[in-house]
Amino acid sequence: MTTTKRIAINTGGGDAPGLNAVIRAATLAALDRGWEVFGIGKGYGGFLDTDKIQRLDQDTVRGIAHLGGTILGTTNKGDPFHYPVPGGGVVDRSDEVVASFHRLGLDALIAIGGDGSMGIAQRFVDKGMPIVGVPKTIDNDLSGTVVTFGFDTAVTVATEAIDRLHSTAEAHERVFVVEVMGRYAGWIALYSGVAGSADVVLLPEIPFDFEAVARKVMHREANGRRFSLVVVAEGARLQDGQLVTLGDERQGSELRLGGIGEVVAKEITARTGKESRTVVLGHLQRGGGPTARDRLIALRFGAAAVRAIEAGKSGVMVALDPPEVKAIPLSEAVDRMKLVPRDGDVVATARDLGMCLGDRWD
Ligand code: F6P
Repeated sequence: MTTTKRIAINTGGGDAPGLNAVIRAATLAALDRGWEVFGIGKGYGGFLDTDKIQRLDQDTVRGIAHLGGTILGTTNKGDPFHYPVPGGGVVDRSDEVVASFHRLGLDALIAIGGDGSMGIAQRFVDKGMPIVGVPKTIDNDLSGTVVTFGFDTAVTVATEAIDRLHSTAEAHERVFVVEVMGRYAGWIALYSGVAGSADVVLLPEIPFDFEAVARKVMHREANGRRFSLVVVAEGARLQDGQLVTLGDERQGSELRLGGIGEVVAKEITARTGKESRTVVLGHLQRGGGPTARDRLIALRFGAAAVRAIEAGKSGVMVALDPPEVKAIPLSEAVDRMKLVPRDGDVVATARDLGMCLGDRWD
């Protein structure tokens, strides 16, 4: 027997290419079952301000699978458990969200987001709201899934940038430092660095030493390779644990990152005498449409989330466990971050290719 349901979808945290593909697939899968679908604007904001709620139908999700951004809007300042108030400070508005969810007569929420959003989802599940999570982040640092959507697009953008910088670096005999995103995990830096044949790759997981980086650059110089490409994740740390940022601006409880590329470039020049330039890829990595791979996984995640709701599941997150998409407990994603394994084969491949990972160069 089929039961008609009312479900809602929201997108939280920084955007990632593929969000609209998830929304489209989840909406079409739900409509196909005769359910009603509502889009909650700006993360949980729509539960607090009903002007931000829209009904989703075939028309609203037509032609959006290949588009970047999110038709629902998103925010990384909307945690209802720590909701910012004008003038500073935070208040707990989570009970208002739960009340609004019930007032709308909803049966389940599909929450699309990264580690922060999955943590919030878990807390709402504990308050009795049925939720299925969908893992999103270009950083690929969510546990429980082999990959998050958005990551492949970010790696593709970064690899293309590294490819393009090779020719100008060689022409001018310069060092180029490419700063990529990756707050806690260096997946984008490592994958794009290896794919783009960088000479140095610096990750949060492998604290680095400027001396090793300078030695690698000078080793190339001595071998007639008068240019170098360095890829650095924004969250890379020095061996003394120091995080390099432009200032101490905060986003919620987190420091706003950015600036390490310039610091690395200046230090390379100081130690080697080589002219260095920095390119910060920033939000280019998550703007624009998803690659076909991200689009496909996002569509699969969206449809799988609806199947999970149909099967009566809650407190789960859909996850890629090749070749299948499965529903795993949300806690598996929330409890720990998925970091680059230092003893993994991609790190080994980088070293075998002669790349310097910042910890040593000999
Ligand atoms: O969550 C992905 C991410 O790209 C991080 O790597 C980065 O620190 C953060 O988003 C920046 O997001 P925003 O500029 O939106 O605060």
